[in-house]
Amino acid sequence: MDDLLHLAQRMMLHAHAPYSKLHVGAALRAEDGSIHGGCNVENSAYPQGLCAEAGAIAALVAAGHKRIVECLVVGPGPDVITPCGGCRQKLREFAATDAPVWSADASGWRARHTLGELLPASFGPDHLTR
Ligand code: THU
Repeated sequence: MDDLLHLAQRMMLHAHAPYSKLHVGAALRAEDGSIHGGCNVENSAYPQGLCAEAGAIAALVAAGHKRIVECLVVGPGPDVITPCGGCRQKLREFAATDAPVWSADASGWRARHTLGELLPASFGPDHLTR
């Protein structure tokens, strides 16, 4: 998990968050162990902003992966950041409900949830393939 933490912290430094001032980084592990990161990218037209998790998912998929086995999101603290509702659903597309989702700040990880805890009774890809 340390590799995810370090990548997400590095990503957080690249955040473009001039409006909220909340710099967020995210890192994901794919099924082959490779890790992929993203940061939030805000926009002067506010709804066009992108969460750090969404950027990390795009990087993972663009690198040729389709499974997320672990996720970590880091913020500046002191509050623990968990993925927003939309990002929970985006993660669900590629991750099982038992996938760990870590929350961290500059000093390390602060909380661990499973995706299923964050998004109970979720709608997922299986609903469209059975
Ligand atoms: N944000 C993320 O990047 N990930 C989260 O899980 C929560 C929120 C960003 C979006 C926006 O740029 C800023 O934090 C404030 O909502």
